[in-house]
Amino acid sequence: MERILTSETPKKIGEKVKLMGWVHNLRDHGKITFLDLRDKTGIIQCVGQNIPKLTLESVVEVVGQVVERPEKMINQNLETGRIELQIEKINVISVAGEMPLPLEGDGYDIDEKTRMKYRYLDLRRARMTHNIRLRSETTLWIRNYLSKNGFVEIETPILTKTTPEGARDFLVPSRLRPGNFYALPQSPQQYKQLLMVSGFERYFQIARCFRDEDPRADRAYGEFTQLDIEMSFVTQKDILTLSEELFTQLVGSIFPHKKITQSPWPRLSHQDARKNYGTDKPDLRKDKNNPDELAFCWILDFPLFTQQSDQDFFHGSGKAKFAPSHHMFTAPHPDDIGLLDSDPAKVRGLQHDLVLNGFEVGGGSIRIHDPKIQEKIFDLIGFSTKQKKEFEHVLAAFGYGVPPHGGIASGLDRFLMVVLGEPSVREVIAFPATAGGQTAVMDAPGKATPAQLRELGIKVSTVPKEK
Ligand code: AMO
Repeated sequence: MERILTSETPKKIGEKVKLMGWVHNLRDHGKITFLDLRDKTGIIQCVGQNIPKLTLESVVEVVGQVVERPEKMINQNLETGRIELQIEKINVISVAGEMPLPLEGDGYDIDEKTRMKYRYLDLRRARMTHNIRLRSETTLWIRNYLSKNGFVEIETPILTKTTPEGARDFLVPSRLRPGNFYALPQSPQQYKQLLMVSGFERYFQIARCFRDEDPRADRAYGEFTQLDIEMSFVTQKDILTLSEELFTQLVGSIFPHKKITQSPWPRLSHQDARKNYGTDKPDLRKDKNNPDELAFCWILDFPLFTQQSDQDFFHGSGKAKFAPSHHMFTAPHPDDIGLLDSDPAKVRGLQHDLVLNGFEVGGGSIRIHDPKIQEKIFDLIGFSTKQKKEFEHVLAAFGYGVPPHGGIASGLDRFLMVVLGEPSVREVIAFPATAGGQTAVMDAPGKATPAQLRELGIKVSTVPKEK
């Protein structure tokens, strides 16, 4: 007999079926046992006599007849609440030991270390299963939408060279060229610009980005996912319109109970946002107690540079006065080009930030495509000749016919955190690192063996004490 799914049982009244799944709940009424069986589609009550001893969360196979429940036993809260399965045969496929953490409830109160150590169990929790499934629906929807709109999905390398976005790089030692290191990309920024030189015109990627920076509730440690987009022959308005249409339709399709506060989305200058709200991430919800409200807005006209204090540095650029306020490929506002020489602090950048309910959920810009201006920016942020050399491939590429281009990257984890009303991005990532930087379940980072280190030509000289 073929296994069927719980969700199919309401159509099988009177038939004998086989189900497989987990023991979600057990109620022992002496001779009669009620067993709630769970599979990926839901839960069904199974009833049997003289059932062998079972433990919760064991995996079982149950064969029996689907019958209607008596009127007064109907459970309106369950998709299968009008029926039950009368157990004829039960087979224990895998016995589960005692759960190391409770799986019922929302799980917010459970110690994070325990949740991460047993993340594969924590993901059985209804809330987590729901989040991860909606994440999958969201990325599938985005893929379909962008593909229909002429975008090409292109994967870019993970083992690569530095692409600074303002955080520390993760380095990976090279075995073939000992003493040399790859950097994991902080974003696919340079590659997506190179793909515009290649002529794809419309690129996207659900891209993993790596940044060694302190975690926060809205910032995953180590790695996170961006919806990365780049387009050629566009103005900033085109990028805003595309993003606005994409997210509006996405919310309508995947999160239909959510209401967008205002459309078209308000566009505020950086200066006005700071003046009127005291922040460049204003929360424009009308009713902050309403969990179903989504207030998107754009922040524009950022200054191109931030002034650095003595302690700050951007990508090892020493004590240069300026650092890019977004990243170093953002184009200056065409009206402000003259100010690059006379008063760089006053130059506005063609940057756009997407803000949702007070969180920065996206950022992008129109890019520099004139190698001379790119050089000037490198100079202003204090890049040495050696540092400029690290990016000479971009300047070289721009010498072979580069279309004007721009784009945006939205933080998928952060967007989902806000839409799902979660307190942390870790609630929407299947296997996130803990706040202390240890990976879920696997407990990386770990030590390399002496043989591995020898092969890589690496000698570990200082090992800081474990915290
Ligand atoms: P930026 O650095 O602003 O831009 O990143 C874009 C968006 O990514 C999200 N984000 C994060 N989400 C979770 N955890 C993190 N550690 C984290 N860091 C960033 C935010 C942010 O708005 N290359 C440019 C984009 C471009 O210019 O097209 C970039 O990466 O939601």
